[in-house]
Amino acid sequence: MINIAVFISGRGSNFIKIHENIKSNFIKNATISVVFSNNENAKGLEYAKNENIPVVIIPSKNRSDRENYDAEIIEAIKPYSIDLICLAGYMRIVTNKLINEYKNKIINIHPALLPSFTGLDAQKQAIEYGVRYSGCTVHFVDTGVDTGPIILQSVVEVSKDDTEETLSAKILKEEHIIYSKAINLFAENKLSINGRKVEIKN
Ligand code: GRF
Repeated sequence: MINIAVFISGRGSNFIKIHENIKSNFIKNATISVVFSNNENAKGLEYAKNENIPVVIIPSKNRSDRENYDAEIIEAIKPYSIDLICLAGYMRIVTNKLINEYKNKIINIHPALLPSFTGLDAQKQAIEYGVRYSGCTVHFVDTGVDTGPIILQSVVEVSKDDTEETLSAKILKEEHIIYSKAINLFAENKLSINGRKVEIKN
């Protein structure tokens, strides 16, 4: 059984889906031991409280000391013996401090087919660029922004009528599927990193 910490900053739909998939046993051998947020007003925290999932909040407003901030996170989540950190709409760049403490144990979901459209507003970037396909990516987190080794991706078609909103909704559906699949692979110890590549064992 692995202990997961989910990091959120806002709505938390990926977090909620992961939790629902644990409850329905689609995700096996994993539990969400704590939800961490840098934003005390994150909408997803309400769900965590209703479901009695422990919550840790460290407000990041006015915190430019990013390494110290991450050191505080490490201390605060230590009691939960975390095996995997899932960034899910966590709107802060994590520093080496956290990455080294949880080496190859931090994953993220990004709403584009990496390496395209990194950073903020990926769906808007895709619409403006005029791509025919976009999608989402679950990847290990390294020190770059959305640059770590890719675990899973899912593709959606961009139709001529798509707006940022409609494309985001299409992509989010896929996010909710592949994030849980990636967690299962991690929990089953089926992922190994070889340079840029993630090998998935059968
Ligand atoms: C998702 O689109 C995710 O890919 C991106 O931020 C959004 C978070 O949505 N990193 P939610 O908070 O999980 O609903």
